[in-house]
Amino acid sequence: MTLQSDCCGVYFPNPIVLASGILGTEAGLLVRVARSGAGGVTSKSASPRHRTRHPNPTVLDWGYGLINAVGLANPGVAAEAPILRAAKAELQRLGVPLIASIFAETVAGFAFAAETVGRAAPDLIEVNISCPNVGHELGKPFALEPESAAQVTAAVKKATEIPIIVKLSPNVTDIAEIGAAVEMAGADAIAAINSVAGMLIDIHAGRPILANLEGGISGPAIRPLAVLAVYKLYEAVNVPIIGIGGVSTGADALEMIMAGATLVGVGSAVRSRGLEALGTIATELDALLAELGYTSPDDARGIAHVTS
Ligand code: SIN
Repeated sequence: MTLQSDCCGVYFPNPIVLASGILGTEAGLLVRVARSGAGGVTSKSASPRHRTRHPNPTVLDWGYGLINAVGLANPGVAAEAPILRAAKAELQRLGVPLIASIFAETVAGFAFAAETVGRAAPDLIEVNISCPNVGHELGKPFALEPESAAQVTAAVKKATEIPIIVKLSPNVTDIAEIGAAVEMAGADAIAAINSVAGMLIDIHAGRPILANLEGGISGPAIRPLAVLAVYKLYEAVNVPIIGIGGVSTGADALEMIMAGATLVGVGSAVRSRGLEALGTIATELDALLAELGYTSPDDARGIAHVTS
């Protein structure tokens, strides 16, 4: 069985990729995840300037996954580029592609961030326009309207030759409409979904648990939402889709592929199954595809789309 997958002309040894955010910005951690069998790794989103995290508590395991409001803490793209360059050198030896994630407060900031991380020659750039955790500071995420999502996409596309993946938000009425807008504006691929906006309340303190009050929910609780988003996008766009949201087993990954995903992002499962989670999920996917009679992930992609 071959798990090899192609996304925007980049070869992935298997379709299971580390999602952005869960492991911070260190090169060593990205390389460790690649060594334990990931098909690709995504760095935490880096912004034009250094950002500190929100006050604690920023993350909670609430039993069905995580809720987080880290606040896009990162050292800034100028400091991040050499870290990515070091990671890339090692990842290249392992044959595992690097996806560099970027974030910015303005359209011009996104272009600057893309140009700067581009110097590290990542294989792909993820454009994170969908973080739900910085709204009070920066206003609505760009991913919430087709026009603003398209504006960022077009600006980043102009700023770099590296293929771009635009990461969409589930916190919208019609994700397919946003997907079509970013595809039209030049997105080479789409990642869906970012975390789902939510809140948990400490009933003893009588106030929200996270210092940021609201946060992004990830993990098993959001998987059906993510599968539906990928399913809808697959019917609306022609670019590859990276399906992200609650995947923690090979069966979950196959579900995403059957909905239409080319690659499958894994984040919160690293907390429940360890850094080896991605390699384990790839092995489980391999066995499951064989058991069900598929010869590759490509064979199973999109087959859940039924014509009524
Ligand atoms: C965060 O740093 O708050 C999470 C990043 C994201 O959801 O995009």
